[in-house]
Amino acid sequence: MLLKRTHTCGELSSAESGQQVILNGWVDTRRDLGGVIFIDLRDRYGKTQVVFSPQDNPESHQLADSLRSEHVIGIQGVVRDRDEVNINPKMATGEIEVRVESLQIYSGADTPPFEIEDDIKTNEDVRLKYRYLDLRRPQMQRNLLVRSKVAQVVRRYFDEHQFAEIETPVLMRSTPEGARDYLVPSRVNPGSFYALPQSPQTYKQLLMVSGMDRYFQIVKCFRDEDLRADRQPEFTQIDVEMSFVDEESIYQMAEGMMKSILAEVHGYDLQTPIPRMTYDHAMKTYGSDKPDLRFGLEFVDFSDIVAKSEFRVFAKTVADGGAVIGFKVPGHGHLGRGVMDRLTKRAIDEAGASGLIYIKNNEDEVYSSVGKFVSQETTVAMTERAGAAKGDLILVLAGSAPDVYAQLGQMRLIMGQEYDLIDTSKHALLWVTEFPLLEYDAEEGRYVAMHHPFTSPLPQDIALMDTEPGKVRSRAYDMVMNGNEIGGGSIRIHDRKLQERMFELLGIGEEEAREKFGFLLDAFRFGAPPHGGIAFGLDRIVMLLTGSRSLRDVIAFPKNQRAQSTMDNSPDVVDPRQLDELHIQLKPGINLLKK
Ligand code: AMO
Repeated sequence: MLLKRTHTCGELSSAESGQQVILNGWVDTRRDLGGVIFIDLRDRYGKTQVVFSPQDNPESHQLADSLRSEHVIGIQGVVRDRDEVNINPKMATGEIEVRVESLQIYSGADTPPFEIEDDIKTNEDVRLKYRYLDLRRPQMQRNLLVRSKVAQVVRRYFDEHQFAEIETPVLMRSTPEGARDYLVPSRVNPGSFYALPQSPQTYKQLLMVSGMDRYFQIVKCFRDEDLRADRQPEFTQIDVEMSFVDEESIYQMAEGMMKSILAEVHGYDLQTPIPRMTYDHAMKTYGSDKPDLRFGLEFVDFSDIVAKSEFRVFAKTVADGGAVIGFKVPGHGHLGRGVMDRLTKRAIDEAGASGLIYIKNNEDEVYSSVGKFVSQETTVAMTERAGAAKGDLILVLAGSAPDVYAQLGQMRLIMGQEYDLIDTSKHALLWVTEFPLLEYDAEEGRYVAMHHPFTSPLPQDIALMDTEPGKVRSRAYDMVMNGNEIGGGSIRIHDRKLQERMFELLGIGEEEAREKFGFLLDAFRFGAPPHGGIAFGLDRIVMLLTGSRSLRDVIAFPKNQRAQSTMDNSPDVVDPRQLDELHIQLKPGINLLKK
């Protein structure tokens, strides 16, 4: 018989003292004290202490003796104020307990493979194998609830701003968007495959041609790429497209969305407009296209000062077109030799630098780690260029551009983390704008689109498409939060001729363009509005809002580093009959035996 709950395990307080209540939940912890059994009963909402004593009800007390962790029960009883000494201020329901009068055991439970509590040190594969138990942990429940809240705020925000939520196909044609596609064989069309969308990019542009004007969707995307902590093969985008807009309209709309999310989830007041920075500036000042602006350590260029230096490394780097750059770390001039040796090792091993040079601008002396080779005058000039005060440390790297910027960017992050320079109470959002249109792919010997092939070049750079394609900037932008790329988009090409020119630059011939994107080019012949959009990584936003280290902690059923789900054992071999129906034969050597 179901004891139908009157309250959840997170809501009783002394206001209900004396009331008869029914609670349902899982046995969290159990203690026996002098013949009295105390159980913390847990559900999604919290925990409540329930007490079985032989005086209150001998039958329930006897039954309670068999209760173990994770048994699922219902109890009926009376809410009682705890004695002063037993009040637990750490527990939301810590003022009271429920004296049990009747107990129902709904189901027993095997001993779980790990404790159901936060801060467990269990191997992640075990957690993922028993994900339903992992998801009983309060932190995981909080994460999923934040995720749910964000989705609701987003829906409300876009609805209030006249956006239509429109679903696009999950089975689509394979279109190159950077990563590898997941393919789905077609049974009724032998030899043909659908692809799962890397994003609904082409559909949302077609929706603009169709006059839908403002579209959004919370949508699953699939990319068969190497996994990292901030990448999953199956992830969720908040996908947006708008007609008759420029960058300003997109920025305003996107900032409004982030403002609502931060206000409703964190009670955080995001100041808008958020800062903007060109890609070029971000790379040269922070060595990253997603700089973490919760701390400083901006780069300083010493190249002109050291161009004529006696120190060959400096002079040669500059002569070869490289750069000598660095940043000051205020108040860290006292770091000792051992620490500096360790930082040098990290610069080499983790950042890929060829070494690390440093200057300590201390009271007694301006010390340079390459002081034997560099004149004191040059060292002092570098200190002045960095605006270093007494007691400051300056880290310097010399190398070829653009690598040296990325290396120093790594060192900036290392210093920020290691020396607690990051203000974690802040959320630093910014736009990185004017990304290069193209990237040269040395392996393929051709240019590829840095964002995607539908991104518009900056009008003033269109002429460069013929002469110096690598220098063309685009109308693409990323939104960055605390050093993570949380969204990216662009103003699109809506002119068929320009789109064809873009394909040409990408080495996609007329025939191939027709074959792959004919439908989009055709659509553009029938009146395409100027349009643009953006897609946010929902998982990444939730990861940052919950302070999680991995996307896996904010996705109910994620894949592991090898793109597997150890819980349901996917991917897995299939019945040969299924392959046969799909007209698929495996290569020799690959067999259908269970792994
Ligand atoms: P883009 O490829 O930049 O743009 O993706 C948009 C955002 O999606 C998130 N993201 C991911 N999150 C988790 N796992 C992944 N593997 C993953 N890949 C991307 C990131 C990223 O900023 N169609 C364009 C958008 C547009 O132009 O409107 C697109 O997909 O947070």
